Amino acid sequence: MTKIKNICCIGAGYVGGPTMAVIAQKCPEIKVTVVDINAERIAAWQTDELPIYEPGLLEVVKEARGRNLFFSTDIDKAIEESEMIFMSVNTPTKTYGVGKGRAADLKFIELSARKIAEISKSDKIVVEKSTLPVRTAQSIKAILGEQSNGVKYQVLSNPEFLAEGTAVTDLHNPDRVLIGGDQTPEGLEAIEALTSVYAHWVPRERIIQTRLWSSELSKLTANAFLAQRISSINSISALCEVTGADVDEVAYAIGTDTRIGSKFLKSSVGFGGSCFQKDILNLVYLCEYFNLPEVAAYWDQVIIMNDYQKRRFAQNIIHSLFNTVSGKKIGMLGWAFKKDTNDTRESAAIYVSDFLLEDLAQVSVYDPQVPAASMYSDLNYLQTRPAAENKQMLEVCKDPYEALKDAHAVAIITEWDEFKTLDWERIYRDMQKPAFIFDGRNLLDHENLRKIGFKVKAIGKGEE
Ligand code: UDX
Ligand code: ADP
Repeated sequence: MTKIKNICCIGAGYVGGPTMAVIAQKCPEIKVTVVDINAERIAAWQTDELPIYEPGLLEVVKEARGRNLFFSTDIDKAIEESEMIFMSVNTPTKTYGVGKGRAADLKFIELSARKIAEISKSDKIVVEKSTLPVRTAQSIKAILGEQSNGVKYQVLSNPEFLAEGTAVTDLHNPDRVLIGGDQTPEGLEAIEALTSVYAHWVPRERIIQTRLWSSELSKLTANAFLAQRISSINSISALCEVTGADVDEVAYAIGTDTRIGSKFLKSSVGFGGSCFQKDILNLVYLCEYFNLPEVAAYWDQVIIMNDYQKRRFAQNIIHSLFNTVSGKKIGMLGWAFKKDTNDTRESAAIYVSDFLLEDLAQVSVYDPQVPAASMYSDLNYLQTRPAAENKQMLEVCKDPYEALKDAHAVAIITEWDEFKTLDWERIYRDMQKPAFIFDGRNLLDHENLRKIGFKVKAIGKGEE
């Protein structure tokens, strides 16, 4: 069986970085080299200011860095040296041409595959780590096969299930590891080679081996099911608000049914992150491509409900503030798509603030991890208004009290723990009256806030 001594990972982002750090930590005899075209990112991985914020990651990186974990921009050398290459490049939704707004943009995958084909002089196992549409492996195989120079390739699908903010624990203790490959003797051997890497720390019974397409489709399906649960409970939150039911009570009541389960039933301002929307759009595109319009429409509804939830939250703010927020300061707590990450991709904060800015609000944001530049770049990307106007209308504060001073309302977007222990009496004193709180995460103690004097509006809770 192929013994893996050198691993190369193309892409040093949220997936590639933490995954390779843990593989290097757990497999000290394997040399792991993470490469990227982004020199700044690679340089940051070599310092103690890692390019991504992830609890516990720095400790893992420090343990392995310089021993058997390396970060480099020398992509050719790393490819040449390795027996196994992980592809962890980004696969955003296409913003142009055929499949615009829905299909995954595979140009980074294609470029990486071409690079591997150009450089390789010895046989390689190529592992798809990025989330990809079903049958992408076929395209990768085709690209690799064209200029094979006698080199033999095996393509595996090994989707990543880690969630941001808990990446290190998810990697250390995964529910399962999924490895898909060709069901040929060579394919099965490659599956075994990757299995033996994970078996350094994952019990064998948790390593699931499947055919290639099943593995690719399982990743999309897992994310679609998770997102669907959030959209389902969010749809019920709208009903709770008009009927006077409490969505947290409903979620608890249904979640105790072991067939339903209690996880991923937290109603919110809407899900964000780099995966859910992208993967569902991808699934929808795939269904349309294979002429399954009913299946496509079914999954599309998960996105429609999520967009509705974000819009509804912003509309509720405007409606409560006497139908206009023009010139009013709205203090926003949180910009990241969830707590314990500095990732802002598809965060509800972007859409909620854009909606408020359309109604001419002055938005002041505080987030403990997200830099101002990311917030402006997220907003500018929407192209709703010129960048200069975004700069003028959105203020980024380094201190939560400053963001909320003189505000008419507080909007909680991210469930950062530190928001729970703010001095809410001081905040109330410094705000315009009536002082509103729109809790998009049902994070705070609403009873206590009402005692202080706040008018509290929460997701999925009937009127006071
Ligand atoms: C997700 C999947 O969980 C992970 O397995 C996959 O590999 C990548 O996509 P991630 O996007 O990092 O991970 O975060 P996740 O914890 O799933 O949260 C996604 C979004 O849903 C966040 O905006 C979160 O706030 C929201 N969410 C989650 C809810 O609104 N309610 C919930 O009950 C759970
Ligand atoms: P993810 O969340 O999937 O990890 P990121 O955007 O955080 O996505 O990371 C993907 C990384 O892949 C980026 O740092 C990007 O520079 C890198 N990348 C994209 N294309 C290539 C390529 N052809 N060669 C090397 N690195 C690449």
